[in-house]
Amino acid sequence: MGGSRPPSPQTSRMGGSRPPSPPAPVPPVGMPDGKANISDMLRPMVVADLVAVIALEHELFPDDPWTAKMFAEEVAKPSRSRLYLVAEAAAGDGSGPVLAGYAGMMFEPGGMQADVLTIAVSPEHWGGGVGSALLATLIQAARDRGCVEVFLEVRADNPRAHGLYLRRGFEEIGVRRGYYQPSGTDAIVMRKDLQT
Ligand SMILES: CC(C)(COP(=O)(O)OP(=O)(O)OC[C@H]1O[C@@H](n2cnc3c(N)ncnc32)[C@H](O)[C@@H]1OP(=O)(O)O)[C@@H](O)C(=O)NCCC(=O)NCCS
Repeated sequence: MGGSRPPSPQTSRMGGSRPPSPPAPVPPVGMPDGKANISDMLRPMVVADLVAVIALEHELFPDDPWTAKMFAEEVAKPSRSRLYLVAEAAAGDGSGPVLAGYAGMMFEPGGMQADVLTIAVSPEHWGGGVGSALLATLIQAARDRGCVEVFLEVRADNPRAHGLYLRRGFEEIGVRRGYYQPSGTDAIVMRKDLQT
C-alpha cells in the first residue's frame, strides 16, 4: 500500500470502467470507539469517483501513484475478486459530499485469503476515524466471504499506518527488503487471523 503499496494492483498495494452492475450497498460496520456514524459515509467506488481518487492518490503517494488506468481496471473487476470503497464527507462550503478517503481489497481465488490493496484518507480528515472505518469494513467483507486471514504490506517508514494495523489485530510476519522503489524502503508484511 502507498505507505504500504506493492508495485502493482495484481499483487497488492495495497490499486476503473464502470462495474458491470450497480454496486451493492456496503453494510455498516459498528466501530467499537463510538465512530459508528463514519461507516454510513462509506460506499462502493464507481468510475465517477476516479477524478477525485486520482487527485488524492497523487497527493498521498507522489513517488508511486497508481494511474487512472490501474484504478479503472481494478474497479471494473468482479465483486468476487475486488472491493473498493470510498468515504465521503460533507464539504465545508455545503456544496455536497467530497472524497475523504478510499480503500481496496482483493479476495484470493481460493476464497480463504484477502489482501488489503490500498487505503488512503485525505489529510484534513486524518485522525477522524475514516481510515479505521475503511479498514474495518474491508475486514468484515473478508469475514463475510469466509476468508480466514487478511494480508497487507506497509512501508517501514509509515508508523502511523503501521500502528493502525497493529491496533486492528494485524501481526508482523515478515519483511520484504527494498520492496518499495525507487526509494528502496522495506515493506513490513502483516497478517490478521480472522478465526480468532
Ligand atoms: C494511515 C491512514 C489511512 C489513517 O487514516 P486515519 O483516518 O487518519 O485513521 P484513523 O483516524 O482511523 O486513526 C487511526 C489511528 O491513528 C491515530 N492518530 C490520529 N492522529 C494521529 C497522528 N497525528 N499521528 C499518528 N497517529 C494518529 C488515531 O488515534 C488512531 O489510533 P487508534 O488506532 O488507536 O484508534 C491515513 O493517515 C493516510 O491516508 N495516510 C497516508 C496514506 C497511507 O499511508 N496509507 C496507508 C498505506 S499502508
